[in-house]
Amino acid sequence: MLSYRHGFHAGNHADVLKHMVLCLILRHLKAKGKPLSYIDTHSGAGAYSLQSAWSQQTSEYKNGVEKILNNRILMDAVPEYYRIIDTVNEGETSLKYYPGSPMFTAQILDESDNAHFMELHPTEYDNLKYNLHHYAYCHVHHRDAEEGLLALLPPAIRRGLIFIDPSYELENDYKNTVNMVKKAHLKFSQGIYAIWYPLLGKAGDRSYELVRNLTKLNIKRTIRAEFTVCAQDSIMGMHGSGMIICNAPYNLMDDLKKILPEITKSLALDETAKFKLEMLTADDC
Ligand SMILES: C[S@@+](CC[C@H](N)C(=O)[O-])C[C@H]1O[C@@H](n2cnc3c(N)ncnc32)[C@H](O)[C@@H]1O
Repeated sequence: MLSYRHGFHAGNHADVLKHMVLCLILRHLKAKGKPLSYIDTHSGAGAYSLQSAWSQQTSEYKNGVEKILNNRILMDAVPEYYRIIDTVNEGETSLKYYPGSPMFTAQILDESDNAHFMELHPTEYDNLKYNLHHYAYCHVHHRDAEEGLLALLPPAIRRGLIFIDPSYELENDYKNTVNMVKKAHLKFSQGIYAIWYPLLGKAGDRSYELVRNLTKLNIKRTIRAEFTVCAQDSIMGMHGSGMIICNAPYNLMDDLKKILPEITKSLALDETAKFKLEMLTADDC
């Protein structure tokens, strides 16, 4: 049973980190001027109205994207992120819409590339199909993440990004994510893998186990980029989130050094907010 709907959370602090990292990785891939493959295993609807009843109920974007809209340091470091937010809000006088990972990708890629998007929830799938219908290089699948990913690997274009953003609703999601990366890497060892994870209250937090098990896969240049907005037990739910990037592009670490301190400072809810940025595996492991 799928109950998670990203519309409640669109534009929150986790989306800011996740989508800036996505834009940076795609920038590195596009910089080579060669075609690339992209697979989004958990795509969501592709774009969200911040005026919807769901979004208004939680207002999570107010402690996320809304707080960094005029941040000059982040605008200079990740202009793509801002350009795409402007594009989905064209004609609006204030922030009304927030793009999901498929829309960021569709806007950065072009006809030379090949992108696949998996989404299992029927309504989210329909919305995604509608939101991407202008982009001929974007293929939307009503399909399970792992089944679809393994069926599509290795891609015809042997360079690219696998973007993994589960909702971690089920007990086994953490273990399944690691197994999925392990199996996918066996089929496509050159691929960049970017995996998002939440930082939850003490009782529910599984990030340590996830990061440890992903590191144990021993994929070269595995980076952890993580930040918190407040103390672990001062909030219900997520107090931060992180990304693991395996086979990370060479200069990604430098980009992350620019954005993580600024995201953390801008989105902090109390003085305990902090970030962690480290290379977990070597270049030659
Ligand atoms: C966190 S949301 C994705 C948000 C999106 N990546 C973004 O950044 O805009 C996770 C999505 O995964 C979908 N999902 C959950 N289990 C799935 C599965 N086994 N296969 C494919 N999609 C799944 C959910 O319906 C939900 O829309």
